[in-house]
Amino acid sequence: GQIGLELNEKVCVGLEGTVAEYGMLAKEDIDEREVLFTVPRKAILHQESSKVSGVLDKEKITLDSASSWVPLLLALLHEYTSPQSFWRPYLSLWNDFRKLDHPMFWSKEERDTLLKGTGIPEAVNTDLDKIHKEYSDVVLPLITKYSEYWTPNIHTLDLYTNLVAFVMAYRLEDDDEDEDEEDKAPNPPMMVPMADMLNHVANHNAQLEFTPESLKMVSIRPICKGEEVFNTYGQMANWQLLHMYGFTEPFPSNSNDTVDIPVSNFFTAARDFELSLLDEKWRLLNQIEGNDAIIFGNQGCLTDSTLNTVLKVFCMSQEEFLDLKENEGWEEDNDEEDTATALSNEGLPKLKTIWKKLIHGAARLTLSCYTESNEVAEEKDDPDKMLMEDKKSLAKLSSRQQRALHVRYGQKSILHKLLELTN
Ligand SMILES: *[C@@H]1O[C@H](CO)[C@@H](O)[C@H](O)[C@H]1NC(C)=O
Repeated sequence: GQIGLELNEKVCVGLEGTVAEYGMLAKEDIDEREVLFTVPRKAILHQESSKVSGVLDKEKITLDSASSWVPLLLALLHEYTSPQSFWRPYLSLWNDFRKLDHPMFWSKEERDTLLKGTGIPEAVNTDLDKIHKEYSDVVLPLITKYSEYWTPNIHTLDLYTNLVAFVMAYRLEDDDEDEDEEDKAPNPPMMVPMADMLNHVANHNAQLEFTPESLKMVSIRPICKGEEVFNTYGQMANWQLLHMYGFTEPFPSNSNDTVDIPVSNFFTAARDFELSLLDEKWRLLNQIEGNDAIIFGNQGCLTDSTLNTVLKVFCMSQEEFLDLKENEGWEEDNDEEDTATALSNEGLPKLKTIWKKLIHGAARLTLSCYTESNEVAEEKDDPDKMLMEDKKSLAKLSSRQQRALHVRYGQKSILHKLLELTN
């Protein structure tokens, strides 16, 4: 088309034979490292390629106080509703963002019941608060000021919220080399035609590559005729996929599924044992590690150095702890690889008993959060497990119920496995 997308003849974009509404299919066998399509930089919609880029530039100082998504969202508000927009051919493919069915479009009650314990209801509440606040504090004053581009009657909070879902699901960020510069602002998001036609799976067969002139989708292994071409949005747990993109990978196909165990659950679990100075240890841990969650995946702990610290501090003798506090220093006696191995599925059964008991207790507490009654059923008696095994009942579930089940069941499976490994 006019914006210069180049599509390899061996693939096509279609509505049939793909996992979601749109998808890309191989029409012929494809080799590894073939370029499937190229999107030139000028075909990418971002804050600087929009008609409103001048205004966004002029209001830079106001916009700097808001999240890095706001300029793109303002551009989208204008381009999505402007009949003369250069981006019309691209944006007209999207006529109903609610079809993405992100949990933010579910009722609060649906989220709180279907997704209880998964962490999603809390994440969505945070999002919605932020969306409301940013719309009223930053977006509304600005669009009122520039009536040649926006009208509050058309560019409502509702449209804004829908566009947030669109950006959540299809944005890309330039991957630059110096990611580890900590203070650097995140790269602003951008919308890339064609790239958003591909679906994601953990076990993907293509990936996006960035060059100064263009973005290229490249096959990373041979793809057979008739197969769907899958990109990756990164290593994503099902709860993250549902929260950000609206879909899940049906259990057990997501090899990157994870569950979070709040550090506070280790503290609560520790109360059952005779450990010295627990409250003081907890205060110190909050200072050195913050209150992040411990993440477990299918192969073991993914935040092993934090978990190692938490367990070590809780299990210290009074003497060791006072010594640690006095020296304010923290000697890392294990090398990173040892810690990762020790806290992997292979290492967990070999840990010392008290460490296993703490992990066991924390996993059990986490499992109790999925039900109203806070009861932990044996794995074999878990109603979700029975549901997963009953194809007939499974087929009767609504799409929301099914996706929620895949998130819950994936998380609970990792927790049950953890109970077993630390028994
Ligand atoms: C994520 O999934 C990919 C593809 O299945 C796999 O190669 C990789 O090891 C997984 N990563 C983790 C942390 O499980």
